[in-house]
Amino acid sequence: MASTITLNVNGVNRSVTVPDLNMPLLWVLRDFLGLTGTKYGCGIEVCGACTVIVGNQREHACVFNVGSAVGKRITTIEGLSSDNSHPVQKAWIDNQVPQCGFCQPGMIMVTEAARRAGRHGAEIMNDCTHLCVCGTYQRIKIAVTGL
Ligand code: FES
Ligand code: FES
Repeated sequence: MASTITLNVNGVNRSVTVPDLNMPLLWVLRDFLGLTGTKYGCGIEVCGACTVIVGNQREHACVFNVGSAVGKRITTIEGLSSDNSHPVQKAWIDNQVPQCGFCQPGMIMVTEAARRAGRHGAEIMNDCTHLCVCGTYQRIKIAVTGL
């Protein structure tokens, strides 16, 4: 049954009508709210391309029900900064981390979630276990060193 809900996304309350509260958050972000920075890769919690932060937890938006996001702060890659001034964005740019780029929003959001959890520098690499088909892990390792 369709429901109209309010989602707090990147600090803004967004009203959206969804066909089912069990719909993956990823579909709502991308198709209903136009936030296409978060990517769809595997759909089964393996690749990490869909990672967003809900509250202060990293979540795989491909399987996270939109109904469970109501009342929580959702942060997507678009919410870090609009001018690439966020420390993680700057580290990625300074170290030219992305290759094709598809996995990178997820990698960046995993890194940001680790920082919010109090992890810094090299220990963030333990969180960056997601799939990068282009093999950018070495550059990610360098980028997180200063964070
Ligand atoms: S698309 Fe969600 S983990 Fe791959
Ligand atoms: S940069 Fe291409 S998949 Fe990671």
